[in-house]
Amino acid sequence: MAKKITTSTLQKMKDNGEKISTITAYDASFAKLFDQAGIHAILVGDSLGMVLQGHDSTLPVKIDDMVYHTTSVARGVENTLVLSDMPFMSYSTKEQTFENAAKLMQAGATMVKIEGGSWLCDTISGLTERGIPVCGHLGLTPQSVNVFGGFKVQGRESDKAKAMIEEAKQLEAAGIKLLVLECIPADLAKAITDTLTIPVIGIGAGKDTDGQILVMYDALGISFNYMPKFSRNFIIDTGDIKQAIELYISEVNAGNFPGPEHIFN
Ligand code: KIV
Repeated sequence: MAKKITTSTLQKMKDNGEKISTITAYDASFAKLFDQAGIHAILVGDSLGMVLQGHDSTLPVKIDDMVYHTTSVARGVENTLVLSDMPFMSYSTKEQTFENAAKLMQAGATMVKIEGGSWLCDTISGLTERGIPVCGHLGLTPQSVNVFGGFKVQGRESDKAKAMIEEAKQLEAAGIKLLVLECIPADLAKAITDTLTIPVIGIGAGKDTDGQILVMYDALGISFNYMPKFSRNFIIDTGDIKQAIELYISEVNAGNFPGPEHIFN
């Protein structure tokens, strides 16, 4: 019987140079299939606002939506670690953050994910002290799409890249157990991954992170609006959902995904 994956498992994987494969899911049936395929972690992403609810951003997602989908996913998994996104404006004050993070943990998450840099350090240490592991998220953080002026690659300029490395170090010092890097140049993602001791997973961040994460609808070729450049449709090669996820895991392990066509330079 496979063992339950914990934050220590992910840390050991980084330490041993083993690749971490993660994907989003929003319901029990897909979560069960992904768990059986051997996915290491499932993110109940606020991307559900776009791929399930049909919005053009993640901003309309509510904490109750995240609780509902986290509960469903948690019922489906046996071994896979479940992490859950804190949606837009659900972590703007400490008290509000603690209350909302507790709802996600009680719904079955093992870790919560919050988007942003050093302004979150106090929040991260406060959550960790209260028994809630935190995953950070830097780069193209979709909740800030209106500040960025669109879904744009981040960290291309050298001053922005240096600032992102500093923010990543500060998040690690504050206690994050995992970091997601989204849509940044591959060499910057490698620099952050090499600098941090905690595991770093990427989406549109090249192949030199400790692992990858994909939105399940992209990986299965049923993206709602468009197929992002950094994603790959694994169903084309397999015609079967479980085999598609097994292929994704083996391609990440072999260093074949992401390929040069999925990378920002
Ligand atoms: O919400 C989500 O699905 C995410 C991933 C894209 C990392 O945050």
